Amino acid sequence: MSESLTIALSKGRIFKETLPLLAHAGIEPIDDPESSRKLILDTNHEAVKLVIIRASDVPTYVQYGAADLGVAGKDVLMEHGGGGLYEPLDLRIARCKLMVAGREPWSEQAQRLRIATKYVHSTRAYFAAQGMQVEVIKLYGSMELAPLVGLAYLIVDVVDTGNTLKANCLRPLEKIADISSRLVVNKASMKRKHARVQSFIEQLGVAVRKQEQAA
Ligand code: ATP
Ligand code: PRP
Repeated sequence: MSESLTIALSKGRIFKETLPLLAHAGIEPIDDPESSRKLILDTNHEAVKLVIIRASDVPTYVQYGAADLGVAGKDVLMEHGGGGLYEPLDLRIARCKLMVAGREPWSEQAQRLRIATKYVHSTRAYFAAQGMQVEVIKLYGSMELAPLVGLAYLIVDVVDTGNTLKANCLRPLEKIADISSRLVVNKASMKRKHARVQSFIEQLGVAVRKQEQAA
């Protein structure tokens, strides 16, 4: 019997974009997370399971070994801090940018800057590196609303096409980081299941390169 592997994924774009990469490694889920209420999905391999969780919970499940591997955005990993995890592969999916955005540049702002975001640590670190202490307000979504209703002067959020910013009369102001999703691996699983994990990483690496060449 082959060694068991549990892979943590979030619903939506990460699941959709990871699926072709998993297929290349010979792994196909039996259930569809969009229609099933199951949180543990079986695959065509008895020993491989997918756990479906919130995107921001993926590093935590992998850090504590509740999943051997996972797929998470670099934005989420930067915020988590990366303890207990290896990050062996850039999957080059779910690409976007972590940005500061607002109605106008903040140089005209005399008061202490107030910034709304779900990326509290990354935001503090970015402004601290510029010698600025800012007030950060933690939100869980719809950050674009905050400057429109006077909750904050700026936001920090991921931007892809820029359409959400534009629709809310906001402008991208500064890029904090380029973002894509990464494969993360629990440090103990990397040791205990080394051959299985290593071959999985290599198969995904080949799939990523093929996908890049085809694009
Ligand atoms: P949570 O449920 O934990 O709040 P979420 O709603 O941000 O997470 P998704 O919207 O599925 O989860 O985003 C997953 C990842 O995809 C993000 O962490 C980011 O790396 C990337 N991402 C987010 N928005 C976009 C976008 N518009 N275009 C491309 N990639 C994106
Ligand atoms: C993300 C992000 C922005 C939007 C940016 O939201 O929070 O609102 O994408 O993409 P754009 O630049 O192409 O408009 P998402 O659509 O994932 O919804 P969410 O709030 O559920 O994460």
